[in-house]
Amino acid sequence: MRVELYERIWLWIGSAMIVFFLAIIVSSSAMHAVHPPSHVETIDPGTVLSDSEFSHPRIETHADGSVEVIGTAEMYVFKPGTIRVRRGKPVTFRLTSADVVHGFQIVGTNANATLLPGYISQFTLAFPNAGEFLIVCNEYCGLSHHLMQARLVVEEAP
Ligand code: CUA
Repeated sequence: MRVELYERIWLWIGSAMIVFFLAIIVSSSAMHAVHPPSHVETIDPGTVLSDSEFSHPRIETHADGSVEVIGTAEMYVFKPGTIRVRRGKPVTFRLTSADVVHGFQIVGTNANATLLPGYISQFTLAFPNAGEFLIVCNEYCGLSHHLMQARLVVEEAP
């Protein structure tokens, strides 16, 4: 079987593009801490608001400055609405949805999670820069999706 020169050229270009895209995925996961979800923990979305853990969204600051955030997303509000953490200290988020799919993106940081009903999204991050950051829902969740926001305040460690 004879393969035309142009076909061979395009086969090589196509193969090179696949290798190039795979290299981008591997290098971004290694260098920019972009991780696929690795925490699988389920919860009945119908009981989130009466759940012993998630019925009281809160921020727990430990003696070493690390913080645990227990939060929920529902149409169209994040709880807690303001999250205060210390700069450079690890922050563990435990988040879930009480109704539909919501997003949880902290603009200007690499915190970006999808909150699926039935699952608890957990991730730990430290924020290297002090300041105020907008938290937005980046999954369309209904008519007031665009109003769904919260804020993260990163304070200088005392
Ligand atoms: Cu919640 Cu969009």
